[in-house]
Amino acid sequence: IPAENIRNFSIIAHVDHGKSTLADRLLELTGTINSHHSHSQVLDKLTVERERGITIKAQGHVDFNYEVSRSLAACQGTILLVDAAQGLQAQTVANFWLAYNQELSIIPVVNKVDLPAADVERVTKQIQSTFELDTTNIALISAKTGLNVDKILPNVIEKIPHPTGDVNESLKAFLFDSWYDTYVGVVCLMAIVNGKLQKGDKIVSAHSGNKYEVADIGIMHPEQVPTGYLHAGQVGYVICNMKAAAEAHIGDTFYHIKSPVDPLPGFEPAKPMVFAGIFPIDTNEFNKLDESIAKLTLNDASVSVQKETSTALGQGWRIGFLGTLHMDVFQQRLEEEYDANVIITQPTVPYKIIYRDGASKLIRNPSEFPESNEMTHKIIELQEPMVMVTVIAPEEYIGSIMDLCGSRRGEQLEYNYLDELRVIMRYSMPLAEIVTDFHDDLKSRSSGYASFDYEDMGYQPSDIVKMNVLINKKPVDALAAILHRSQVSSIGREWAKKLNNNKTKTKNYFYLKISSKRQLYEVVIQTAIGGKVVARETIPAMRKNVTAKCYGGDVTRKMKLLEKQKEGKKKMKMIGNIELPQKAFYDFLSKR
Ligand code: GTP
Repeated sequence: IPAENIRNFSIIAHVDHGKSTLADRLLELTGTINSHHSHSQVLDKLTVERERGITIKAQGHVDFNYEVSRSLAACQGTILLVDAAQGLQAQTVANFWLAYNQELSIIPVVNKVDLPAADVERVTKQIQSTFELDTTNIALISAKTGLNVDKILPNVIEKIPHPTGDVNESLKAFLFDSWYDTYVGVVCLMAIVNGKLQKGDKIVSAHSGNKYEVADIGIMHPEQVPTGYLHAGQVGYVICNMKAAAEAHIGDTFYHIKSPVDPLPGFEPAKPMVFAGIFPIDTNEFNKLDESIAKLTLNDASVSVQKETSTALGQGWRIGFLGTLHMDVFQQRLEEEYDANVIITQPTVPYKIIYRDGASKLIRNPSEFPESNEMTHKIIELQEPMVMVTVIAPEEYIGSIMDLCGSRRGEQLEYNYLDELRVIMRYSMPLAEIVTDFHDDLKSRSSGYASFDYEDMGYQPSDIVKMNVLINKKPVDALAAILHRSQVSSIGREWAKKLNNNKTKTKNYFYLKISSKRQLYEVVIQTAIGGKVVARETIPAMRKNVTAKCYGGDVTRKMKLLEKQKEGKKKMKMIGNIELPQKAFYDFLSKR
């Protein structure tokens, strides 16, 4: 196919604005699929058939911004699709900037004009004022009914440039997506920038230096159709002998063994931003869980896994995720597909330690937090990762959302009206504030109408400390957390209360158990920074009425029993033997 006849483009839109429906219509118009068949949502089906992680990736969720940006890098243009009833949402804005920064041609399209609530004029104005895109002849379509969809492709042909690669140059192939197939192993999607890639070719990854041989190659039409080769300008699938998804580095460049080329710019290795400890509820399930985690990570290149040992929870793993959604999906898959029961600790973002000698180190676990003597002698400062948050919401919710962002240590950078009714705000905010249910809070404060997205803003010095939870003076490692100093007293008190409180919650909340009975002695719960106690809660000893069964008379027996009880208390205190069942951690950590 001559490169002049190729157009590589993507569709960007907020969740549910109609990407898959439009893609189906376009596939029908181009004769790729038959409109008479019930091919509804062919692309969605394909993605679901792959892996659940990929479906989320396809939705352009904020956790996967890097991967979205790499997919855009394989295109020369994009259709920016906006729902006529909902208007611009934060994800569309974030994705617009990703596309804009890559100098893609952007074609705005308004979808769902058939809906009674469609407000074409308002949405067109939003697009025009926010993106400064020309909207004079904007396509007003219904992907559902097909109305005006035929106007899109002529526009694509005219406005989006064809790829400009040279077939005669050395091979330069760009990997922008991959998934794991149980039968054939890793399937890569690649854009051929220059040269030609054929079945049987030996290629090298510019990132890892690993060598591979192409076993199958072809186009997605929309399913895999082998063609034997792909040439400059084409995008297609490549199957080579990659065993695990982790070998397919998104953004990597491949070349022929004998003719190395400069890799394409913009490559970043997968960078987990949220770390949590995962432990089996039943410690006997360690080996089974170990196998399940290994299998799951086989087809998820972006998680990082390390073994971890906790005094409270036993053996487990410290796992790094791209974001909290990614973490939730991972946990859900472990539970549903592998029947695992796990405890996930409070997520931690990677903090940075800057040493006096100029060196730096990332810490991903409260247990790695420096001791106070190290702090004074060796360390200059601690830093935390920051993000730029974009929030779009109807005006009436703005006050409450600003309160939320303020309480999450956000600093407003921008405040603008998208139109008479909707406001767009930008905040710089610590990533740590986003990973603790910011999204849920935002949704509930805005009755679901606010949308948000965030992007990386690097590191910033921060006054962070480690908060320990002590039970009868002993720190419980699994409950330690890294916090900003300003939050210590409120969170410290809240946690201590929560740990104590097993009545206000519906479930038997944090039942401090000694064997199967209520504790026979006092339990003190403290939260502390270094040696300084922030909050204290006491669960009084339950004085078991051991004498109740003695009918008067026998004083000696009564004394003996009381003596025994006292001794029991002493012994317990001495050993500090509080048995916290794993279940108690699970309850506390999963409901925070
Ligand atoms: P995600 O994959 O979840 O991000 O969604 P998407 O952007 O791919 O949206 P999808 O195509 O799945 O459409 C979401 C819903 O909107 C579906 O129920 C579609 O039937 C509906 N929809 C899509 N286009 C139109 C349209 O033009 N008019 C109407 N009324 N509904 C539409």
